[in-house]
Amino acid sequence: MRLFLDTANIDEIREINRWGVLSGVTTNPSLIFKEELDPEQVWKEILAEVDGDVSLETTEPEAAAMYEEGKRLASYAENAIVKVPMTPAGLEAGRRLTNEGTRINVTLVFSPAQAILAAEIGAYIVSPFLGRIDDAAADGMHALRQICEIYETQGYETQVLAASLRHPMHVVESALAGADIATMPYDVFTKLVKHPLTDTGLERFTKDWDELKGKLGKKEGA
Ligand code: E4P
Repeated sequence: MRLFLDTANIDEIREINRWGVLSGVTTNPSLIFKEELDPEQVWKEILAEVDGDVSLETTEPEAAAMYEEGKRLASYAENAIVKVPMTPAGLEAGRRLTNEGTRINVTLVFSPAQAILAAEIGAYIVSPFLGRIDDAAADGMHALRQICEIYETQGYETQVLAASLRHPMHVVESALAGADIATMPYDVFTKLVKHPLTDTGLERFTKDWDELKGKLGKKEGA
């Protein structure tokens, strides 16, 4: 399962990119809004920084304008993936884009039925929003499992991107469900590496090593 960062913050992207595990980035209008910078500048900086897929979201509500916007976003770089919402207009614009070979990510997906539509228009990625399904007192992980099973059964090539992940167990369970990609905010990404036994184990190793060096130093000095 590939790991993506769900952010528009270039410092967060640069930091996680240094770990060597970052395969892509997802952005959305709310994440771009938080940066308070020109969206085009933000997207282009991310596209240049990341050696992998970067999702840029359309904002036009009508299909024709969304299609034009999608073409413009796709032209920014080879690794630009155009996000369209799961709406009738998003399907129409998305289908036109996929027909022309533009890779799209169908976003705001909350049910297996919607995921089938995304696959049928030839989407490159489908993004079910697990955390937001949980927020609505339903089971986001169950929806993800169903989507993965349907895609497997039907032989759909659309990649399943588990989105709106809120904690490390969402990531682990998404991998178990068979998701192709998991996207998560910076704070969830940094939690993946943490374990209290790693911290105490390293503390002990460092202490013993320093003590040994001290002892050897004393012997040499004697
Ligand atoms: C994915 O592409 C979305 O940007 C994202 O995962 C939404 O997550 P949220 O529900 O935490 O805003």
